[in-house]
Amino acid sequence: MYRYDEFDAEMVSSRVDQFRSQVNRRLSGELTEAEFRPLRLMNGLYLQLHAYMLRVAVPYGTLNSTQMRKLADLADKYDKGYGHITTRQNVQFNWPQLTDVPDMLEELASVEMHAIQTSGNCIRNVTSDPYAGAIADEIEDPRPTCEILRQWSTLHPEFTFLPRKFKIAVIATEKDRALVRAHDIGIEIIKNAEGETGYRIIVGGGLGRTPIIGQVLREFLPRIELLPYLEATLRVYNRYGRRDNKYKARIKILVQETGIETFREQVEAEYSELVPLDIAVSPEEVSRITDYFAPPAFKKLEACEIKTKDSALARWMKHNVLPHKVDGYAIVNISLKPIERAPGDVTSEQMRVVADLAEKYSFSELRTTHQQNLVLPHVEISELENVYKALQAAKMGDANIGLISDIICCPGMDFCALATARSIPVSQAIAERFQDLEHQSVIGDMQIKISGCINACGHHHVGHIGILGLEKAGVEFYQVKIGGDPSENTALGQVTGPGFSQEELIDGIERMVDHYIEIREAKERFIDTVRRVGVEPFKEVLYV
Ligand code: HEM
Ligand code: SF4
Repeated sequence: MYRYDEFDAEMVSSRVDQFRSQVNRRLSGELTEAEFRPLRLMNGLYLQLHAYMLRVAVPYGTLNSTQMRKLADLADKYDKGYGHITTRQNVQFNWPQLTDVPDMLEELASVEMHAIQTSGNCIRNVTSDPYAGAIADEIEDPRPTCEILRQWSTLHPEFTFLPRKFKIAVIATEKDRALVRAHDIGIEIIKNAEGETGYRIIVGGGLGRTPIIGQVLREFLPRIELLPYLEATLRVYNRYGRRDNKYKARIKILVQETGIETFREQVEAEYSELVPLDIAVSPEEVSRITDYFAPPAFKKLEACEIKTKDSALARWMKHNVLPHKVDGYAIVNISLKPIERAPGDVTSEQMRVVADLAEKYSFSELRTTHQQNLVLPHVEISELENVYKALQAAKMGDANIGLISDIICCPGMDFCALATARSIPVSQAIAERFQDLEHQSVIGDMQIKISGCINACGHHHVGHIGILGLEKAGVEFYQVKIGGDPSENTALGQVTGPGFSQEELIDGIERMVDHYIEIREAKERFIDTVRRVGVEPFKEVLYV
């Protein structure tokens, strides 16, 4: 994992001092809220419906057990004893007091963490595959590329005031677990016909109120060209991106309005201007950064399987455990989707359990996932049962990864000032209706995603079933989309028709699920059935 050098440490701690002085000036009334707002946003501090919210960066979703313990301490000391994992792999605290935030940032800095670039119109925290460095079929660990991007983009003077926020995700497998095609820039690490490793650059994807799937900007970019090419792309966006209307300010709108061919020409023209400046990262620097991500000291183990008569353990292994690239090891997903809590919430007690498990069984390494869960990336297969028991005891052992109750959900009306409806209670009602894990397992792969307004933080556009909470004359109602797909076959769902009350919605979902089970062909997932038969038959059972 990347370790701060002196420069990083100095930069982060001077940033804490600077923010402390800004908070003091706000508290004394020297700064108005309007003046303070851009300053706090540069430090990940939002103002929500009831309180401030601090978004802490977890670069490319990688953190260690010491950092997890620190997050647990902050949750107890400054929040209400829990934190929240976001769809961009960060951690949020929902209840900090403004006066405490500089102390929180100081404590975070002591474990090499911060909240820089988790908000504002800059290049945000780069996200990646939560199984990076562990999954069998990756071309290479994508995290060194993410780290190069982090260092390039952090406080980049030219890109601190972009027309709008800018999100980048990097993957190195054919399977997409980071939603690269719904990012401003998505990067796929690939090999060309000559066997050289480079990048496919995708641009102009995004969700929000205008969902658009990204398009290929460059099919194969040699490794050395990464930074100059991205710099050129960002320059074109910075110059031509709209600043007159914030709803049209994302790069996706620019690419759509310009057309991908013309946009590509603009980027290539800018790129040729930049090449003589030689801002590419040298192979030596790439290898220095890559060294930080050297694999842990895996034991030489035989490939093995666990045979168990315990059906709950078997189900958990089927849904939550994945093969590892090293024989004898496995990747363990930790579900943060129990019925009684908001999806992605994790208590300080659970954080400490996870930190202990990481220390004992996973070389102290942890990951946060875009699906709002956690991962122990390197667990010996022979220890899986022990890990399962410990997770069960801490209410994190549900065997529901990728299943109907593994819902992505935004904070909605419970926390968010922009919400038009509640979303957390809807996700809880769905989880409750389908609480039988065996039934969930029978339903199989199902991605439900819920947003509490058209800003789409809960990714409803790409849910197999997407739910959008709206409001009319003071009454909340929920619109349903079907056929979205967050995987490498990225697709936007189709709106089915008028919305429902929460109760009608849950009944309607159950009818669609029953219909799918009735008509599915062997091993067909819900999304495959929707693709085969179309949305119409599902609409019919939804609107009986
Ligand atoms: C009170 C808190 C929040 C506010 C005010 C807020 C506001 C917004 C707004 C206005 C957008 C649309 C931006 C655009 O399209 O340009 C957006 C998008 C988004 N938000 Fe939030 N959000 C909040 C919380 C969250 C949380 C908790 C998450 C993660 C779980 C999240 C994840 C996202 C994501 C992934 C997008 C995706 C759209 C995209 O960038 O393509 N947001 N948010
Ligand atoms: S989708 Fe809307 S309600 Fe949900 S967090 Fe985003 S802005 Fe708030």
